[in-house]
Parts: sequence; C-alpha cells; structure tokens
Amino acid sequence: MQVRFIAPGETHVLRQQVLRPGQSLAQMEWPKDHAPGSFHLGMEANGQFCAIASFIPEGNPLVGGLMPLRLRGMATAPAHQGAGLGSALLRFGLEQARRQGNDLVWCHARERAVPFYARLGFLAQGPLFPVAGIGIHQLMHLQL
Ligand SMILES: CC(C)(COP(=O)(O)OP(=O)(O)OC[C@H]1O[C@@H](n2cnc3c(N)ncnc32)[C@H](O)[C@@H]1OP(=O)(O)O)[C@@H](O)C(=O)NCCC(=O)NCCS
Repeated sequence: MQVRFIAPGETHVLRQQVLRPGQSLAQMEWPKDHAPGSFHLGMEANGQFCAIASFIPEGNPLVGGLMPLRLRGMATAPAHQGAGLGSALLRFGLEQARRQGNDLVWCHARERAVPFYARLGFLAQGPLFPVAGIGIHQLMHLQL
C-alpha cells in the first residue's frame, strides 16, 4: 500500500469514523487544514482510505521550533490497525516535513497512542492532560 498526498476533504470520513464518532462530517473540517505549508497523507485499499494523517503549520510555545508542524488526525481504520500503516504514513510525513524545511513536529497524543509515537522518536513533554470529550493526552514532539 502506497502513501500519497490527499486533499483535506479526503480525510473527513476516516477522521469521523476513528477519531470523532460523535461529531458530524461538517465538523471534520479543522482550522488550518488549508494553510500554506500544510499537507495531508493517505493510504488507500479498494477505493477507501485506511490510514490518514495531517501536518499543519502551527507552533506550541512548550516545544518551540523555528518552523514547527503540528501532526493531527492520525488515524488507521480499525480493521487495519497494528499492521504498520500508521508507522509508514508517519515516516513519510516526517521525511516530507524535513524536505520542506520544518524543524520540529509535535502532537497531542492520545494516552493509548503514546508508545506508537515514542517508537518513531517522539518525546513526551510535561504532564498528561484531559481533552474534553476525547480523553487523556500527552504533548509529544520530535526534532527533525
Ligand atoms: C494510533 C494509530 C494511528 C496507529 O496506527 P497503526 O496503523 O495501528 O500503527 P502501526 O501498525 O504502525 O503501529 C502499531 C502500534 O500502534 C499502537 N496502536 C495499535 N492500535 C492502537 C489503537 N487502537 N489505539 C492506539 N494505538 C494503537 C500500538 O503502540 C501498536 O504497537 P503494538 O502493535 O506493538 O501494540 C491507530 O492505531 C489508530 O488510529 N488508533 C485509534 C485512533 C488514535 O488513537 N489515533 C491517534 C490519535 S493521537
């Protein structure tokens, strides 16, 4: 399965299904999805996306960086989880971030996904914190 660049709108179905089941498709449009420097990645099987991730130009004073990117909407469809798609997508995204001159990628990782990001080199920063309606999160970052 190949990683490819996709349009922001192509993330909406999987974002909703995996990350925001209680929200509408219209709410899957997130701020800065279309900002210059953002990019969205997907992997497809049988005409359906099975993994997605979005990289958005956004800073966080807690992790710094000269040209930081925020990783958002990292999701693999339940039937495909644990098969290496998420890691492949993230590796591709980190390579693209390096190529376009970003020096740091950060994310708010769901507690359960912390080992997934840690395996790719992300470091945890500060305490766990709750996000209303979603669960416990950990700020993580990777210097590129
Ligand atoms: C986290 C997630 C994106 C990883 O993608 P993936 O394609 O399953 O990842 P890979 O197969 O490359 O890596 C597997 C690792 O991901 C993690 N993982 C697997 N299933 C997971 C799940 N349902 N939720 C969180 N992490 C999961 C585990 O650390 C796993 O390692 P293990 O097999 O040694 O236990 C994916 O599992 C997912 O979409 N989970 C639900 C939504 C989510 O938590 N997204 C991240 C938001 S911060």
